[in-house]
Amino acid sequence: MMLICSSLVVFVNIGIFMGFFFHTYAAKKYNCKSILGLDIDSALIEEAFWYLRKFVKMEFAEKKNTNNTNVKAVQDVNESEQCTNKSSNEGADNGSSHQSSCERNLSDIVSFRQENFVRSRPHDKQYDTILCLSVTKWIHLNWGDDGLITAFGKIWRLLRPGGVFVLEPQPWSSYERNRRVSETTRSNYRDIKYRPDFFREMLLDKIGFRRVEVVTSDLSGTRTGFNRPIFAYYK
Ligand SMILES: C[S@@+](CC[C@H](N)C(=O)[O-])C[C@H]1O[C@@H](n2cnc3c(N)ncnc32)[C@H](O)[C@@H]1O
Repeated sequence: MMLICSSLVVFVNIGIFMGFFFHTYAAKKYNCKSILGLDIDSALIEEAFWYLRKFVKMEFAEKKNTNNTNVKAVQDVNESEQCTNKSSNEGADNGSSHQSSCERNLSDIVSFRQENFVRSRPHDKQYDTILCLSVTKWIHLNWGDDGLITAFGKIWRLLRPGGVFVLEPQPWSSYERNRRVSETTRSNYRDIKYRPDFFREMLLDKIGFRRVEVVTSDLSGTRTGFNRPIFAYYK
């Protein structure tokens, strides 16, 4: 994931779950312009906004504290300078206003939206990167092959030329566990023709991605918990 993030400018995360923390990290570490998190579950979106507000408040308080400390430090320096050189009044402006106008607020960068990505109307923007981690199984079981093809096609259209689609598909073996969630998932599970092993062919030959890289091959040797294959498809 990190290898991809270094080129992020504007990205969408479909199926955020606890995405707030990742978004905050990515926004700061990679200096992203804009990050949109989408999830079908409105409770998750509300929770993400709650964390965002809390985080922004904390940051604001921290900045205020730092600024106050800076002002105090500058005042101390000025006072001592004035003691030694009473004719000089330089250095009274601490420059903190410049710093705060340059730094963008996290809530200007990170946003969230409740959306069923399969059924929603087309977005009017284009993005550099789209993440879809552990979501395809749910789209597949709830909306079948047609839903998945719709989602892949939509992702392709949302990416700017050269953009990257980061995909972590769940393996077919894991579908079995969740197929009984509803009557729909049960029936879709029976009818699925395009299993995860076929996604690569579908994305390259039918949807139109130019090439694919296995991102996680460079992460071998990392600690457990991240041994699922992640692919980067380039438009
Ligand atoms: C297993 S979680 C994965 C979350 C996160 N991407 C991760 O890797 O930890 C799947 C997420 O996809 C969301 N989801 C499922 N179908 C969706 C759809 N059609 N549109 C948007 N989000 C969806 C679920 O609500 C859930 O938050």
